Amino acid sequence: MARKIIIDTDPGQDDAVAILLALASPELEVLGITCVAGNVPLALTQRNARIVCELAGRPDMPVFAGATRPMVRSLVTAEYVHGKSGLNGPELWEPTMPLRKEHAVDFIVKTLRTNRDGAVTLCVLGPLTNIALALIKAPDIAGHIHEIVLMGGGCFEGGNTTPAAEFNIYVDPHAAKVVFSSGIPLVVMPLDLTHTTMTTRTRVSRFRALGNKAGVFTAEMLDFFERFDKEKYGSEGAPLHDPNVIAYLLQPEIYQGREVNIEIETESALTMGMSVVDWWRVSGRAPNATFMRKVDDEAFFDLLFDRIARL
Ligand code: BDR
Ligand code: CA
Repeated sequence: MARKIIIDTDPGQDDAVAILLALASPELEVLGITCVAGNVPLALTQRNARIVCELAGRPDMPVFAGATRPMVRSLVTAEYVHGKSGLNGPELWEPTMPLRKEHAVDFIVKTLRTNRDGAVTLCVLGPLTNIALALIKAPDIAGHIHEIVLMGGGCFEGGNTTPAAEFNIYVDPHAAKVVFSSGIPLVVMPLDLTHTTMTTRTRVSRFRALGNKAGVFTAEMLDFFERFDKEKYGSEGAPLHDPNVIAYLLQPEIYQGREVNIEIETESALTMGMSVVDWWRVSGRAPNATFMRKVDDEAFFDLLFDRIARL
C-alpha cells in the first residue's frame, strides 16, 4: 500500500524537483500539496506548485494556499537564489488547474483527523508556518501524524542565510520552535546533508538527456539555480536540498543520522533561527529528532533520474 503524504512547500526549484520525485513514485500517495510563503511570496509559491503538478500530468492534485507570512516576523524571501518567479530557468506558463478554496491549514487538520491511524507523513520543504499553525489550531492532530520529514537547519555546516541560520528555519523560527517542541517524530535533512547532494554538469546533462518534458524542465531549472550557489560555494553546482525529504521516504537505507536534541533560537538577533543541535549529547536534553548527516549521493541522483524519466 502506498504511503500517504502531504507536501508542504514554497517552490523553489529544489522544491519542484522534490514534488516531481514524489508524483513519479508509486510508493507514495500524495494527498495534497500545501503552499507557504518562503522562497517567494505565497501568490507565486501556490502558482509554481500548480505548474509543477501540470508538468507531472497531475492537474487533479489538490493544491492549497496557506500562510502569507511567518507567525511573528516579517517575510524574508530568496529571489536572489530562485529568481523573481521562484522557478526561474524554464519558460513558465499560467496554470489552468484550480487552486483549492480551502486554507492549507484546514486541509492539513482535516486530513489528519480523517486518518487517525497515524498513516500520514508530513513532508516539509519550506518554512514551518503552516505546520505550526495547524498544531496550534488543532493540537489533537499531533498524535495522528506518522512523522514529519523536513528540510531545515544545520550544525557543523553553519547557516546559509546568516552565519548561524538555514533559510527555512530563519524565515519562521517561531513556527520551527512549535514543531521541534511538539513531540512528533521528526526526521531532519539539514545543510550538513544537503550540501553533499550537489548538482554537477554531468548530472544536469543527464536530466536533460532524459528527453521528456520533466527532465528538460528540471535541467533548465537547475541551470538557473546553480548560478548563485556556484559563486557562493565556489562549487561546480548547487546543493539540491528538498528532494532529500522525498528520497528518504523511498530509500531510507541510503541515509545515516543520529537521534539528537535540536532547539531553535528565537531571541538572539545575532543567531536568530539557529538550530542548536546537540550532536555530542552534552546538554542532557532528550532527543527530539533524527538529524541526517550522510547520504549516498550517487544513489540519490540515480533515484531522481529513474523517477523523473517516468513522468
Ligand atoms: C532551503 O531554502 C530554500 O531556498 C530551499 O528551497 C530549501 O528548502 C535551503 O536552505
Ligand atoms: Ca524549499
